Amino acid sequence: MKRRKVLQAFLAVPVLHSGVVAAGGLAKSTADVEGPFYPVLPIPDTPSLFDAEDYAGDALEFSGQVLLEDGTPATGVTIEIWQCDANQTYNHPADNGERDTSFRGFAGQRCDSDGAFTFNTIVPVAYAGRPPHIHVKLWRGQTEILTTQVYLRGDRGDDSRKINPLKNDDEIYEATFVFVV
Ligand SMILES: [Fe+2]
Repeated sequence: MKRRKVLQAFLAVPVLHSGVVAAGGLAKSTADVEGPFYPVLPIPDTPSLFDAEDYAGDALEFSGQVLLEDGTPATGVTIEIWQCDANQTYNHPADNGERDTSFRGFAGQRCDSDGAFTFNTIVPVAYAGRPPHIHVKLWRGQTEILTTQVYLRGDRGDDSRKINPLKNDDEIYEATFVFVV
C-alpha cells in the first residue's frame, strides 16, 4: 500500500491533527496466544511471505504502524508475522498437513522511523475450527513486547484486533492495522 493510503487508513486512530493524543492516550493492543506454530526456521528479514509466485490464496498487502500510547511512532521495533497457507497448513514440523511450498508463511522486518511496516502475504484462512488470523510478534531488541493475532472483520476473534481486507485497483487485497505498545 502506498504511504498516503496507509496514513488515510490511520485516520480512524484517535490522534489529533497536532499528533498529540487526547488525554488517556491510545489503548494498548491486547495480547493473544502464540499458538503451537511459531516458526522454528530462521525468520527472514523481508516483506514477503512467499517463496514462489505460484502460491495458492488471495494476495494481501498487510501494512500498518506500531505506535506508543502517546501516539508517537514506536522506534526500534521488529515485527514478525506467521500464518497458515491456503491449504490450512503451517510451515512448521508439528503441522502434518500438505504444505503449499510456494508460501513460506512467515517473515519479519524492522519497522521504519514512522513505526510503519508492510508485508506481502495472503488473506488468512480458517483452520481446525479457528477463525482466519495472522499471528504477530513485536520485538524491541531481544525483548518480546507483544504477541498477538489479528482476525478478519465480520468473523470471530477479538473485536479490538480486526483487519478488513479490501481489493485495490490491481485486484490485490489491502488491509491495515495499528498496534499500540
Ligand atoms: Fe494460528
